[in-house]
Amino acid sequence: MTVIYSLKNVVKERLIDGVGFRLLVPKIEIRAQENIAVIGHSGCGKSTLLDMLALILRPDQCDEWSVHPVDGDNHDIAKLWRHDKQSKLSQIRKQHIGYVLQSGGLLPYLTVRENIELPRKLLNLPDDDSINSISKVLGIERQLDKLPGLLSAGERQRASFARALSHRPTILIADEPTAALDPITAQKIMAVVMEVIKGLKITLITASHDWAHVYKMELRTLRQEAEAVEDGKVYQSRFTD
Ligand SMILES: Nc1ncnc2c1ncn2[C@@H]1O[C@H](COP(=O)(O)OP(=O)(O)OP(=O)(O)O)[C@@H](O)[C@H]1O
Ligand SMILES: [Mg+2]
Repeated sequence: MTVIYSLKNVVKERLIDGVGFRLLVPKIEIRAQENIAVIGHSGCGKSTLLDMLALILRPDQCDEWSVHPVDGDNHDIAKLWRHDKQSKLSQIRKQHIGYVLQSGGLLPYLTVRENIELPRKLLNLPDDDSINSISKVLGIERQLDKLPGLLSAGERQRASFARALSHRPTILIADEPTAALDPITAQKIMAVVMEVIKGLKITLITASHDWAHVYKMELRTLRQEAEAVEDGKVYQSRFTD
């Protein structure tokens, strides 16, 4: 299977006067249609890692980072960050990545339909039936004309998934997407999402602190370990294959 992400020696620091947090990625390789769980306690760097994988957050150091979302399309992300090619990075992100934030992240002044349409509009994709069909699969077809504030928490997260999937990305990144929901609703939503991504051949990368849930979904878990270094001034967390 194609390697979609390949990272070597990636570092992100959140230090003030040498004190704070450091994220290390010695090596991660993610293959097409592999589904990945990023697990670890609060503050260990899950969101930091996902923001980097979503090409939103710039690494401080990066020996190698390539993204190969579709055949014949290989991007040297390390080089793009090094040369500050923000618009190219944003184009790759818009085209190939869908991102579901923990809070949902729907725009409150747009209807659910307008929110879901947004990624397609940004790519000038045609106005076909895909909004209706993805909404139906996720069970929010009757919510499309409402503002997000009028939806239940579960419906909002379904709408966030619909928005992240509407442009048919290769990669779906979801940061604790069901953390705010009761376990039964969370499981129902993730079961539907897993079916959708299987059907569309999408690679899922999700952060969770719910171990049991992740094992039930049969995701590959990245290894995470943390230690205090530099006289306890730096909390260093390492994610690897
Ligand atoms: N913008 C920022 N500036 C400085 N430090 C930050 C920033 N964002 C996060 N951090 C720090 O980086 C570390 C990792 O944070 P991160 O949000 O990635 O953790 P997390 O594993 O996602 O936690 P949670 O499970 O609570 O969401 C924390 O110590 C946090 O305080
Ligand atoms: Mg987080």
